[in-house]
Amino acid sequence: MRDQIVISEEAAAALLAGAAEGGEAADVLPKNLYEEMGGMETLKAAVFSLLELLRADETLSHFFHYTDSTLFTRRIAHFFAHIGGATEEWIGKPVDEAHHGRFIKHEHFDLFLTYTE
Ligand code: HEM
Repeated sequence: MRDQIVISEEAAAALLAGAAEGGEAADVLPKNLYEEMGGMETLKAAVFSLLELLRADETLSHFFHYTDSTLFTRRIAHFFAHIGGATEEWIGKPVDEAHHGRFIKHEHFDLFLTYTE
């Protein structure tokens, strides 16, 4: 499927860096980004709310139909802690692999981003 997109860890890190810089693209993540994000409990709460928003969106909800909320919240929060500079190792799937075969297109990605702002 050539119009599927690949979501890589590098792209996610760049995105997060951009958000931390107030929307401008940045090459490197600030070292204290994890603290700026508010630590693990804040991250988990943010991911949980994000999942609720995604599930309420009729274009995106089907992607998360079988998703376990607790597991997803924990995994995504740990992922952001990992790329945000916390010492935690990322033991989940490589991000490109986690999305492979899910038929995520640019329009889905763009819509997804509107909920992460
Ligand atoms: C910057 C953008 C994104 C990042 C950083 C990201 C990150 C992740 C991570 C870390 C996982 C968990 C991997 C694991 O299971 O070990 C995951 C799973 C998943 N992502 Fe994303 N993702 C992004 C965008 C998207 C988009 C746009 C969609 C679809 C609209 C999507 C749909 C999913 C789904 C369906 C799962 C599996 C959930 C489950 O376990 O049921 N992601 N993502």
